[in-house]
Amino acid sequence: MNRVLLSGLFASSLFLSATALVQASGVPVGPVKPDAQAGATLYNEGDPSRGIVACITCHGPGGNSELSVNPNLAAQPHEYTYKQLVEFQPREDGAAPRRGADGAPSIMTSLATPLTIQDMLNLSLYLAEQPLTAPAAASNEDLVARGEEIWRGGIRERNVPACAACHGANGEGIPSQYPRLSGQFASYLEDQLILFRAGHRGNSEMMIQIAARMSDADIKAVSDYAAGLR
Ligand code: HEC
Ligand code: HEC
Repeated sequence: MNRVLLSGLFASSLFLSATALVQASGVPVGPVKPDAQAGATLYNEGDPSRGIVACITCHGPGGNSELSVNPNLAAQPHEYTYKQLVEFQPREDGAAPRRGADGAPSIMTSLATPLTIQDMLNLSLYLAEQPLTAPAAASNEDLVARGEEIWRGGIRERNVPACAACHGANGEGIPSQYPRLSGQFASYLEDQLILFRAGHRGNSEMMIQIAARMSDADIKAVSDYAAGLR
């Protein structure tokens, strides 16, 4: 098989099932069954022998983070979380599809690199089963009206669709592709929209197109509103 065909297969495998990813990366093919209990252990304890840092250090108990720089991970569709972990890992050319500020590697890139496909499936299932116990809140009353308008109706004159259409009326997310945004930290949501707009978070053509048509003020308002949704 030639290189072009192989790299095409690799790119498209992102959108297929975990089994397909196993095939594309050359690991022996077989049914991959997620194990939430193994995910919990790895999340809470890491695995020093393989250089895996305990996720709980930053993302808090059961994916409920205490610091807004580290996103909440609880109650997210497991397919979404799995996709993110895969896309934090560098590709053959050295760059990861999901990068951080100025296109530099995200802090998650070095943390996700030692994870196997089985680890990522286990962690994602464990996190999806955890309740969001301490959701973030909206903090800026002046932005609520504008945020709600964008959330429910989009920005018609700039062809921005309503966020609710894909992320759910209450921001709860729609399995499997669309993440929950409700209760997520406003500053994290704002950062991600800015990263999409710049193309540094290059792992969703959909969100890159949407963020490209939003101003800083739009992004701030809708991020604050989404954080407060329940
Ligand atoms: C040193 C702190 C730290 C540790 C340890 C850490 N993370 Fe993260 N994580 C972050 C930060 C900061 C971000 C935001 C990254 C960005 O915006 O590029 C993040 C983002 C994520 C995201 C994306 C969330 C979303 O809504 O898209 C996932 C998934 C994730 N981490 C999972 C994990 C898992 C699983 C582990 C353990 C193997 C882990 N993290 C360990 C700090 C950490
Ligand atoms: C057509 C469907 C669609 C619409 C409409 C949409 N989104 Fe998204 N959004 C997605 C998808 C799909 C993802 C997951 C991208 C990925 O896989 O990384 C996402 C991811 C996000 C993220 C990253 C979440 C995280 O945990 O890192 C934010 C923030 C976001 N969207 C905000 C918005 C806002 C605000 C609006 C409205 C202006 C909006 N989205 C409208 C499909 C959509």
